[in-house]
Amino acid sequence: MIYLGSDHGGFALKETIRQHLEKQGLAVTDCGNTVYDDADDFTSFVTPVVQGVLSQPDNRGILVCGTGIGVSIAANHHVGIRAALVHSVDYARLARQHNNANVLCLGGRFVEEHVALAAVDTFLQTEMDTNPKYQRRMALACGEK
Ligand code: RB5
Repeated sequence: MIYLGSDHGGFALKETIRQHLEKQGLAVTDCGNTVYDDADDFTSFVTPVVQGVLSQPDNRGILVCGTGIGVSIAANHHVGIRAALVHSVDYARLARQHNNANVLCLGGRFVEEHVALAAVDTFLQTEMDTNPKYQRRMALACGEK
């Protein structure tokens, strides 16, 4: 299951991503906002996305705000979440291969739509690199060793 969330700064891109994923027949849960509300706070949508991602190991999250910074800061407060702020397809690939990211964060005001959609596809289709050095580094980064 892929959990989506955004505030007003990411709303348009989040809607486009949801449609893009649904067209591919992927299972998507939209955690909101479900309407454009320029007074909403990105934090309202991070918690349900995080809860969904943590409920099954293979679940993924996609969070969008204006810059992607706020949602990535908020998501990374949660143990077990590895949220990566991504600006390109290469960032998305490396976020999976080297960092085993389970949440993709995007800046709706700064990333072009076609780049964002390609980054989403890459994020969902790429596995972590099996080289133990990446496992070791992420265990250290997440305070597991
Ligand atoms: C909202 O205006 C904006 O501050 C928010 O979407 C995000 O960019 C925060 O990091």
